[in-house]
Amino acid sequence: MALTEANKRQQCTVITIDGPAGAGKSTVAKELAKRLGFAYLDTGAMYRALTLKALRQKINLENEKQLVDLAHQTLINITTDDKKSLKVVLDAEDVTEPIRSLEVTQSTFYVARIAGVREVMVQRQREIGTKNNIVIEGRDTGTVVFPHATRKFYLDADSKERAQRRIKELKEKGKQVDELTIARDLEERDTKDITRAVGPLKKAEDAIFIDSTGLSIGQVVGKMLEYI
Ligand code: DC
Repeated sequence: MALTEANKRQQCTVITIDGPAGAGKSTVAKELAKRLGFAYLDTGAMYRALTLKALRQKINLENEKQLVDLAHQTLINITTDDKKSLKVVLDAEDVTEPIRSLEVTQSTFYVARIAGVREVMVQRQREIGTKNNIVIEGRDTGTVVFPHATRKFYLDADSKERAQRRIKELKEKGKQVDELTIARDLEERDTKDITRAVGPLKKAEDAIFIDSTGLSIGQVVGKMLEYI
């Protein structure tokens, strides 16, 4: 995917955080953005919002052309308040909650694996990142979206701990969870993200690897701040 002149010149400070589901990217990225006074962008929320729209319109998730057309026709606006609480607006509707449903979580892979969809999303992510100092997190933010980012991190954690974190998060939201299903789901999603042809989950060569197993959010953010 060609970089625009603006990306090559990239005047804003861009910090990327990539890694698998449950590594703690969102929590850490929000906290880091808060401490630095930067904007925060959750790229996964963009793929989730588009997937929600596709599911509602009953689009066949194997139909690449329809999904690419849908991406072009869809407005996704992601904002955060002072506390970095995320608000995701799909066209004119607040979808912050519905994009976290199990159905959306399990279906997003089908939408996110399409090259044409990723092209639209990556372009929008670059536009946001060239206007603001930003902490951006996802799977390909350091490899594809901002290969010239100021600082790149790859955040990982032991798979058992990642599953436990996800289970705790769901329980806190009052959702019923089957622990084995959550662990298996997480593993399946990782494999799919790592092995897909476009924008796979991958550590950029110049990214700093941080293993968050056994570390608190504060400790991970502290490590990152030292590097920054
Ligand atoms: O980070 P998350 O779990 O909210 O991501 C949701 C999905 O979107 C997940 O299947 C991976 C995918 N994704 C992606 O393909 N590229 C990104 N930059 C971010 C997320």
